[in-house]
Amino acid sequence: MEYIALRGAKIPALGFGTWPIHGSECTRAVASALAIGYRHIDTAQMYGNEAEIGRAIRQSGVARGELWLTTKLWRDSLNARDVRRSIEERLTLLGTDYLDLLLIHWPDPATPLRETLDAMAAARAAGKVRHIGVSNFPVKLMREAIETIGADILCNQVEYHPLLSQKRVIEYARAHDMVITAYCPLARGRLREHPLLPAIGRRYGKTVEQVALRWLIQQEGVAAIPKSTHASYQQSNFDIFDFRLSAEDMASIHAAAGQQRLINMSSGTAWDPE
Ligand SMILES: NC(=O)c1ccc[n+]([C@@H]2O[C@H](COP(=O)([O-])OP(=O)(O)OC[C@H]3O[C@@H](n4cnc5c(N)ncnc54)[C@H](OP(=O)(O)O)[C@@H]3O)[C@@H](O)[C@H]2O)c1
Repeated sequence: MEYIALRGAKIPALGFGTWPIHGSECTRAVASALAIGYRHIDTAQMYGNEAEIGRAIRQSGVARGELWLTTKLWRDSLNARDVRRSIEERLTLLGTDYLDLLLIHWPDPATPLRETLDAMAAARAAGKVRHIGVSNFPVKLMREAIETIGADILCNQVEYHPLLSQKRVIEYARAHDMVITAYCPLARGRLREHPLLPAIGRRYGKTVEQVALRWLIQQEGVAAIPKSTHASYQQSNFDIFDFRLSAEDMASIHAAAGQQRLINMSSGTAWDPE
């Protein structure tokens, strides 16, 4: 495993995504991910699978201190009272007494951002949450959180893969010492037709998925959270610590990254142009 060490956090650069896995399939998938060596699990209030994840963690015997647990507040839980209530619910369902990272899942203009971030910061001060952050925030909203509100946010979790450049969000995050967590890091199966990845993969003896994940985590301050219900894919996605892409290959994948966005904003806030 490789780690991102930033502002007191030590984040496993490769995590395990859990949407949309539920019930015994979720417990099985998380158990096998933990057995393979994943130590960073991504979930959310909206996924409805935190109890199953908590069960898999308890059964695994992996010590809590070895794990990085990220969960997210849904859009109906962003006022101060709901933030407090939802955090207690997340802790109970996951069976833990702290969260490593709590994110605002989607921006929502219906609740003042300052109110949500202040309530999250209070939970951090109380020791229930180690770090706070956001998800699906374009630069304009990252700027509002950091420069207007003065929030101390560690992470923005956004869609990021070799088909989507995210240049502006990443530049802003890096300039403000923030981590970017790449969701949909495998572009949900759309990488096989990528113009460069198959040939690069052949040169390293790696699959297109392994090249994509390596390209993500080899970037400064970038984590990736691929999801798979298959142990064989979980294992191959994990087998990316035994090679490094050359600077030329990193640059050529960057240069080819376009604007193929899979997830669309539903709250009316515009994405950054690429
Ligand atoms: N913050 C947000 O708003 C947000 C939005 C979307 C996602 N997320 C998070 O990001 C995680 C990852 O995103 P995602 O699940 O949407 O997309 P993804 O990880 O890019 O792709 C998942 C898909 O790829 C398949 N797959 C996984 N490994 C593979 C491999 N080695 N070879 C071929 N196919 C492979 C999986 O199949 P099988 O499962 O059938 O193996 C699944 O269909 C989610 O699980 C969730 O935790 C967050």
